[in-house]
Formats: sequence, C-alpha cells, structure tokens
Amino acid sequence: MADFPVIKAEAKCGGIVIKDEWPGYHLDLFTFPEHYSGDLECVYLPHGIIMDRTERLARDIMDDLGDHDIVVLCVLKGGYQFCADLVEYIKALSRNSNKSLLMRVDFIRLKSYLNDKSTEDLHIVGAEDLSVLNGKNVLIVEAIVDTGKTMKALLKHVETFKPKMVKVAGLLVKRVENAVGRSPDYVGFEIPNRFVVGYALDYNEYFRDLNHICVISESGKMKYKI
Ligand code: HPA
Ligand code: MG
Repeated sequence: MADFPVIKAEAKCGGIVIKDEWPGYHLDLFTFPEHYSGDLECVYLPHGIIMDRTERLARDIMDDLGDHDIVVLCVLKGGYQFCADLVEYIKALSRNSNKSLLMRVDFIRLKSYLNDKSTEDLHIVGAEDLSVLNGKNVLIVEAIVDTGKTMKALLKHVETFKPKMVKVAGLLVKRVENAVGRSPDYVGFEIPNRFVVGYALDYNEYFRDLNHICVISESGKMKYKI
C-alpha cells in the first residue's frame, strides 16, 4: 500500500509538500487513456486532489483579491487546464458571496522545454499585446515553476506594461537547488525535481490529454522523443 504523501500543508504560500520518497500511486488504482499504457510510471497527483487543491487556492485568491478587478494571465500551453479550473472555482465563489470579482482572462504563450530538458532561451510565442495589463491587478497563472527562470523573465516582461499589482498562482513548484526569483504567491503543490506530465503538462506536446499528473516512464520518453 502506498504511503500518504503529504507531510504538511503550509499556510498559503508553501503549498502541499510532496516528499522526495513519494512513489506515486500504482497505475492500476486509477483510469487513464489506453493509448498511454506503458508510457507512465505512476499516478503522482490524482485529478481529484488537483481539483480540491485548486478550489482552495481559488478561495485564498478571493480572500486577497475579491474586492478588486483582475486580469488573469494564463501561461500557455501548460497552464490552460489549471487556469480554466481555477477561474471556474473563482466564479463559483464569486456567485456565492457578496464579493463580485470582475475577471478578464488573457493568454501568453511560452516555450522553453525540449524533451524533458529546459532550454536556455525562453520564447514568448505569438506575443500578444498586453497593454491591457496597464494599471491592472494581474494574476499570472502557471502550471509549473521549476528553476524560476521562466517566471522571472515573464515577470520582467509583464512589468513593462506597468500593472498596478502582480500576483502569481503556480499549481506545482519543483524543489530545485538553483531556483531564482520569487516563488508564486499561491502554490498548489511543492514537488520533488521529477518530470511530470498530464493535466495539460506535456512531454513534446503529448500527455496533455491525461487528467492525472503522472510520472512518465523511460519507454514513454523514448516513444515520444524528438
Ligand atoms: N513537465 C512538463 N513540463 C514542464 C515540467 C515538467 O515536469 N517542468 C517544466 N516544464
Ligand atoms: Mg511543455
């Protein structure tokens, strides 16, 4: 039987800490698309846990920003699922409370990974005109933060549009040694430095259509390597 992975939930900023030793759940315990059988090692974070944690992040965000209008800036492609679910939960909270949060949702597309390695150069692909951010409260929504380099470059880019305030929500933060920059204001899970896929996180564009966050197997890596 698998150990329970969570050692502590630190208040707000730290996220749920997943220990280095967490082996994940056996694949037989959950369902996943047949086309990925053999490509995965384990279910690392089941979809339901991701959703429940996201709901709580939405509440934290509402507590802090509920009286403001915000621009949600979704970092594509990996952030689309987290952003969509987070926005849904914020909308639900907004409906059911006396706080009415006006949200705009905008998108920015970044690319820095090839296979499972981070490349040095960050590409802002299809650069949107982000002048809409001028004078606004901005919530950047990113699926994963590892070295922090991407986030640092993105924050620098966003700051050039002179927003009033910038907060960052990251579903996953990896424990890496040489992390740079600030960590997100809202963190779902702090995870070991392992390459994960699913819930819109990809390996060379595959596995986005997987609901759980999983660890890819060596044969999976070989199969989709470019
Ligand atoms: N998985 C997918 N994309 C990523 C990861 C990861 O673990 N880290 C940075 N981008
Ligand atoms: Mg990617």
